[in-house]
Amino acid sequence: MRSGLGGVDSVLLIGGSSEIGVAIIEAMAPRQRIVLAGRPSGELDAAAARLATLAPRVDTVDFDALDLDSHGRTLAGIFGDGDIDVVVIAAGVLGDQTVFETDPRAAIEMTRVTYTGAASAALHGAALLRRQGHGHLVILSSVAADRPRPANFVYGSAKSGLDALGRGLSQALTGTGVDVTVVRPGFVRTRMTRGLTEAPLSTDADVVAAITARAVRKRQRIAYAPAPLKYVMGVIKALPEPIFRRLPLS
Ligand SMILES: NC(=O)c1ccc[n+]([C@@H]2O[C@H](COP(=O)([O-])OP(=O)(O)OC[C@H]3O[C@@H](n4cnc5c(N)ncnc54)[C@H](OP(=O)(O)O)[C@@H]3O)[C@@H](O)[C@H]2O)c1
Repeated sequence: MRSGLGGVDSVLLIGGSSEIGVAIIEAMAPRQRIVLAGRPSGELDAAAARLATLAPRVDTVDFDALDLDSHGRTLAGIFGDGDIDVVVIAAGVLGDQTVFETDPRAAIEMTRVTYTGAASAALHGAALLRRQGHGHLVILSSVAADRPRPANFVYGSAKSGLDALGRGLSQALTGTGVDVTVVRPGFVRTRMTRGLTEAPLSTDADVVAAITARAVRKRQRIAYAPAPLKYVMGVIKALPEPIFRRLPLS
C-alpha cells in the first residue's frame, strides 16, 4: 500500500517492455512488487532483469493488447496476488502515417493497440483499483492528442480517445481513493521513435519518468513532458486554423 509519505510498494506496467514505462518504474522505485505485463520477448525479459534489483518480486505476465477477452482475467489475476499501488498504461504503437493514408487496415490495426487495447486495460485497471479502494492509474497519452496535424493525425486520433478516457476516469473516480494522471509526452528518444527526425523539445525516457513520478506524488491530473510543452501546446491549441495550417510542424 502506498505509504503516507507517498512511497510506492507495487507497480503494474501494461506494455511491460516499454522504455518509458520501465523508466517510470525506476523513478517510482517500488519497494515490494513489480509486474510487467506484455507479449513474451527478449525485451520483456531484459526489462525484468533491469528492474530485478529494485524490488524483491519482479514478475512478467503475458498480455496482448489485441486479445481483449483476456484482459479482465489477466488483470484480476495480478490484483488477486496482492494490492497494486500504481497501474501504468504504456502499450502502444506509433506506426507510419504515410502507410496509414494508403492502407486504412494498417491504421485501424494501430488503433486496436494504441486506443482499444490500452483503453480496455485502463478500464479493467480502474475497476480493480476502485474495488481495492486506493491506487493510481497512469495513462501515457501524447501531445499528438492535443491537436491533429498531417504528420501523425491517425496516431493522434487514437491518443485523443485514450486521453479523453483518462480525463473522464479521473473525474468519475473522484472520491473513490483512486487517482488518474494523463501524461502527454512530446518526442521521446526510445525504440518507438528510433530513426525518426527529432521534434523540438525532444527528450529522454528518464525525463518523462521523473515528471510522471512527481505528478503521481502530487496527484496531478495532467502532466506534459518535458514541462514547457504545456505552454507550447497551450499556444498551438489556441491558434486559429488558418495560422496553424501555415506552421511547418503541421
Ligand atoms: N516515444 C515517444 O516519442 C512517445 C511520445 C508520446 C507518447 N508515447 C507513448 O508512450 C508509450 C510507451 O512508448 P515507448 O516510447 O516506451 O515505446 P516502446 O518502448 O516501443 O513501448 C511500447 C510498448 O507497447 C507494447 N505493445 C505494442 N503492441 C502491443 C500489443 N499488441 N500488446 C501488448 N503490448 C504491446 C510494446 O511491447 P512489445 O515489446 O511486445 O512490442 C512495448 O512494451 C506508448 O503508448 C507511446 O504511444 C511515446
